[in-house]
Amino acid sequence: MKIIREINEIRRICRDKKSLGFVPTMGALHKGHLSLVETLQKDCYPIVMSIFVNPKQFGKNEDFAKYPRDLEIDIKLAEEAKVDMLFIPSEEDLYPDDYRTYIDVEELSDKLCGKSRKGHFKGVTTIVLKLFNLIKPKVAAFGWKDAQQGIILKQMVKDLNLDVEIRMCDILRDSDGLALSSRNNYLSNEERKNALSISQALQLSSKMFASGVRDFSVIKKKLVEHFNSFSNTNIEYIEAFRIENLQETDFLEKGVIIAIAAKVGKTRLIDNWRIGE
Ligand code: PAJ
Repeated sequence: MKIIREINEIRRICRDKKSLGFVPTMGALHKGHLSLVETLQKDCYPIVMSIFVNPKQFGKNEDFAKYPRDLEIDIKLAEEAKVDMLFIPSEEDLYPDDYRTYIDVEELSDKLCGKSRKGHFKGVTTIVLKLFNLIKPKVAAFGWKDAQQGIILKQMVKDLNLDVEIRMCDILRDSDGLALSSRNNYLSNEERKNALSISQALQLSSKMFASGVRDFSVIKKKLVEHFNSFSNTNIEYIEAFRIENLQETDFLEKGVIIAIAAKVGKTRLIDNWRIGE
């Protein structure tokens, strides 16, 4: 595996690679990240992964400073997953002092997570477009774990006529159901137990749907009760929305996602269930 830190070098090496697959990450790699690599390995070569904790997608009171960073372990995991090139750019190179340009996917970026994380998606779309410009992938993989992020990036690709396929991949979970996330590193043992409230709420939704419930307000009421039985766990939102446009809906059917954001202690976690998947 080649480790590349320079912008000019990644640009040079990725030039004219017709089936390049790209997995952008912020590091603290887990099996969810590695599953994206595996998905692309089926039809892409080479596979480029980036690790960059992007300051522009963190709000002032968020966890940029304490976001888990362990490059040594990440390099080992990427190597084991047979990533061909690992791009680890510096903040100074990507955002020099006179940096001025941002990408904003209007409306979609203000909903759901965008309500409490103002400017977050503007930071995400900006860095992802910059990375696409440097790496020029044919396919880029993202996880359904961050459904809104994927939907916004698809919109960006469409609006800006970018020549890249956004491939969305299933959510990887621990054996008890907790969706894998770099932020799970923050959880104490007690908090980790409470964090299960989120995936359990989605399982409850899926059971109710299977038993014939189609009215989201009925499910939401049950989920609020469910969360009340967990201490130190605060719901930020429980929403149902259509995949194609993030439009909220009360009618549950294929093509709708139920998404939850909750704070367990100080840790903000998200998870979702795509109906029919
Ligand atoms: P990060 O949180 O590191 O996630 C990188 C990719 O891994 C994202 O596409 C995310 O959806 C996916 N992922 C995370 N947890 C997953 C899981 N349990 N199962 C499957 N996929 C999972 O998302 C970001 O970084 C950043 O916003 C980024 C796109 C890199 C831009 O900075």
